[in-house]
Amino acid sequence: MGFLDGKVALVTGGGSGIGRAVVELYVQQGAKVGILEISPEKVKDLRNALPADSVVVTEGDATSMADNERAVADVVDAFGPLTTLVCAVGVFDYFTEIPQLPKDKISEAFDQLFGVNVKSNLLSVKAALDELIENEGDIILTLSNAAFYPGGGGPLYVSSKFAVRGLVTELAYELAPKVRVNGVAPGGTITELRGIPALANEGQRLKDVPDIEGLIEGINPLGIVAQPEDHSWAYALLASRERTSAVTGTIINSDGGLGVRGMTRMAGLAQ
Ligand SMILES: NC(=O)c1ccc[n+]([C@@H]2O[C@H](COP(=O)([O-])OP(=O)(O)OC[C@H]3O[C@@H](n4cnc5c(N)ncnc54)[C@H](O)[C@@H]3O)[C@@H](O)[C@H]2O)c1
Repeated sequence: MGFLDGKVALVTGGGSGIGRAVVELYVQQGAKVGILEISPEKVKDLRNALPADSVVVTEGDATSMADNERAVADVVDAFGPLTTLVCAVGVFDYFTEIPQLPKDKISEAFDQLFGVNVKSNLLSVKAALDELIENEGDIILTLSNAAFYPGGGGPLYVSSKFAVRGLVTELAYELAPKVRVNGVAPGGTITELRGIPALANEGQRLKDVPDIEGLIEGINPLGIVAQPEDHSWAYALLASRERTSAVTGTIINSDGGLGVRGMTRMAGLAQ
């Protein structure tokens, strides 16, 4: 018996990092999973690595309504009624603080970062909504420590994650009692999280930042340098209405306890 037997999930951004760990756990626990992923290389790898009788992969962009609709159609065609939507796409601003944000790039950077981190959630939810209402399903959005505390990014990233927190609250309110809406807020995790073209850091990966382990370990009380799989059971719990029937509008902080210590300063004018 798997924890998620009978579930049919769509995971956006399931090609690497936290989304990929969620896909692997969901499959291991009996769910059938569709993935919407933008990177052709990651799509290829997913198709090679995961069993075709449990996973269907749609190559596409979560900031496109049409691609989200295609991903929903693909997973429903392959596995039947959709019960679960997990949004795990994201991009980062690499701690670019306001003094360093180029004046002539702010508008473009905002559109790129908010497009992926915020707008895609709305589009994915909208594309999956009829299915989720019909099947009394669950939505799980991906936030961050940056949805609660300063310093986990620059103003673009932090405000984008606060916006996702707003989405959890408003969507949980609007969609009750049919659909539950919750979030997971990971802390620093060793992944391939990328930057954006407008800040010329789209080729950067979080796991390649010098001493990223030390940076993450030093700021959270549990001293955890999280790997993606450290968060995936939080996503499993929130996908199991049977076990968490009273939970909606809630966010699981999976960040090693940042809230009990607060962030130490990682950058700023004083330095
Ligand atoms: N890594 C961390 O320290 C950390 C901490 C807190 C929150 N998060 C959040 O976790 C989520 C997952 O990030 P990750 O760290 O696993 O990074 P990741 O880059 O490994 O995973 C994100 C995946 O989404 C895909 N993707 C990006 N834009 C897309 C788009 N427009 N359409 C479809 N797919 C797209 C990427 O190709 C990648 O496979 C993000 O929302 C991120 O903000 C990450």
